[in-house]
Amino acid sequence: MTESLDLAAADAVLSGLRPFPVAVTTTAGGRANGLISLSAGAGSVLREAPRVQISLAKRNLTHDLVKESGVFAMHLLAGGDDDVLAASLAIIMTLGGSSGRDGDKLATLATKPGVTGSPILTDALSYVEGRVVASLDTEENTLFLADVVAADRLRRAPRLDIGTAWKALPPEWTQSYERGLVHEYNAARRGRGLPEQPV
Ligand SMILES: Cc1cc2nc3c(=O)[nH]c(=O)nc-3n(C[C@H](O)[C@H](O)[C@H](O)COP(=O)(O)O)c2cc1C
Repeated sequence: MTESLDLAAADAVLSGLRPFPVAVTTTAGGRANGLISLSAGAGSVLREAPRVQISLAKRNLTHDLVKESGVFAMHLLAGGDDDVLAASLAIIMTLGGSSGRDGDKLATLATKPGVTGSPILTDALSYVEGRVVASLDTEENTLFLADVVAADRLRRAPRLDIGTAWKALPPEWTQSYERGLVHEYNAARRGRGLPEQPV
């Protein structure tokens, strides 16, 4: 770590750069799973040959399944009307609040199979499906870059941003999620060879 690094300035630059939560799903060896991510983005400037990139923490089951299958679906979530927003919040709480290592998270969500076999969340706003063409081990995460091989818009609604979602999520859920972050961050510290913080 650089001695003179201004961590607050670094955070002011880097945090919130990607405001749209996405749901990433995949399937491998007969196991389907998914998680919520704030790290997704476009992976090419070419509109005729789109690519998508995601960054998955190594401790997450979805990470291992994407590594194994080489495919995933990345969904944007819908905001707007109460019913639509409620379905998006259910996706966030189901996929982002616990690990598929502890049980089948997709069982309670509406899905259909995509062309890559990845489960498509039919309550999402829109999605792309990707086949991984490159991956980069970043110690705490793996960055996956994929060719987009399918895409669809499932409804007309605004994209749900994380600020709106955070305000609408039940406080018990956000508090429980924030308590769990210490484990997530310690896993990242282990990956980077940095000292862990007490739980
Ligand atoms: C708003 C939000 C953003 C998140 N961003 C990421 C991310 O970019 N990468 C990641 O691997 N996990 C991210 N997570 C955490 C995973 O969604 C969470 O650890 C999930 O329970 C992992 O599930 P799995 O073990 O079934 O894959 C995020 C969670 C939330 C709620």
